[in-house]
Amino acid sequence: MLNFELYNPTNYVFGKGQIEKLATLTPKNAKILLAYGGGSIFKNGVYDQVKKALTDFEIVEFGGIEPNPRFETLMKAVEVIREQNIDFILAVGGGSVIDGVKFVSAAVHFDGNPIDILQKRLLIKENAMPFGTVLTLPATGSEMNSGSVVTIDATQEKLAFGGSAMFPKFSICDPTVVQSLPKRQIENGIVDAFTHVMEQYLTYPHDALLQDRFSEGILQTLIEIGPKVVENPSDYKLASNFMWCATMALNGLIQKGVPNDWATHMIGHELTALYEIDHARTLAIIAPNLYRVMFETKKGKLAQYGKRIFNLTGTDDEIANEAINKTVAFFETMGMPTKLSDCTKDFEKTADFIATRFEERGWFAMGEKQNITPEKVRVIVEMSY
Ligand code: NZQ
Ligand code: ZN
Repeated sequence: MLNFELYNPTNYVFGKGQIEKLATLTPKNAKILLAYGGGSIFKNGVYDQVKKALTDFEIVEFGGIEPNPRFETLMKAVEVIREQNIDFILAVGGGSVIDGVKFVSAAVHFDGNPIDILQKRLLIKENAMPFGTVLTLPATGSEMNSGSVVTIDATQEKLAFGGSAMFPKFSICDPTVVQSLPKRQIENGIVDAFTHVMEQYLTYPHDALLQDRFSEGILQTLIEIGPKVVENPSDYKLASNFMWCATMALNGLIQKGVPNDWATHMIGHELTALYEIDHARTLAIIAPNLYRVMFETKKGKLAQYGKRIFNLTGTDDEIANEAINKTVAFFETMGMPTKLSDCTKDFEKTADFIATRFEERGWFAMGEKQNITPEKVRVIVEMSY
């Protein structure tokens, strides 16, 4: 097992009716920026619950954080915070609102141009404004991790950053929010969480036995409940397991002591930056082809995955190949397109564009064995057309 440190200070508050606890979780006398997205919180009752819980607090509202949050919009929130002497931020929304708030929290006291946080991928370890979250969409794990992904409109870049100061102080995760989600967002959430596990699991066989079993447990649970929660989003058993799986998939636990491969995400972010394709959909398009192109590196773990998750039998090569097909079939069950041409007609130069961009950024060696080169990225993206 690889050496590791496990640090996660987020107070994770889970279950029905927990939004009521906001008043005790939020620092006393805080002046709050209540940040939200396009307005879903006004339709599903979450806004009313938040306002009721925070009647004794002074609140300034900031709405309009987009899916795939924009640097340009978030800088307006930074201005509001500075003008209004805000000292606490509450993110009410999905991964985009939470990620956006992480950026705002890092940018407010940043000494320099906050665009550097993204373009130089800075680690934010201090000087961040404290923030909490009320999660409305299980998917990203952002409610219990220290990562964030923000898009710069001006340059069409979607860039990740993070650091130990980017953990939420608390996150309220009430699974009843799932019932108001559009079907497409539930499907996206299941596939995003599934792929998060795969990025930390589908590498090569190693000595971290418990981490493998954690990962396989999350994958099996997502396969079991995924199609059902799409059909029955009001079923509390399904919704609560969905929400907990999504958090556990990316709160750091299953990642400790094991190799990682985030290349599917890095390529996927480019597809969103170029074509505004939903995050999870980019993963469903790229992941299976990445497994095919990197077959020799990954086949040992693909075989383990095929045996344990899909009960496949045969030679390891046969099982590994069939495991990729089963993954594609699961993504299709979850309503995902699995080709880029399903999402845009304008795809032909994509592989060249992304491979060149990775070269310019110096991303020559991605993956668990540092053998995903820009040339391999080009092949993976071309296979995904
Ligand atoms: O904006 P509103 O009106 O709230 O509507 C949202 C949005 O249109 C809607 N929605 C959210 N909760 C709802 C709801 N509609 C009805 N009822 C509810 N309860 O859903 C739409 C999508 O929301 P968004 O926050 O964009 O989705 P998601 O949670 O999937 O977040 C995606 C973003 O997170 C990033 C992605 O790249 C993308 O930018 N990720 C963040 C990660 C992290 N911080 O660790 C990891 C992930 O890999 C991912 O990259
Ligand atoms: Zn993701």
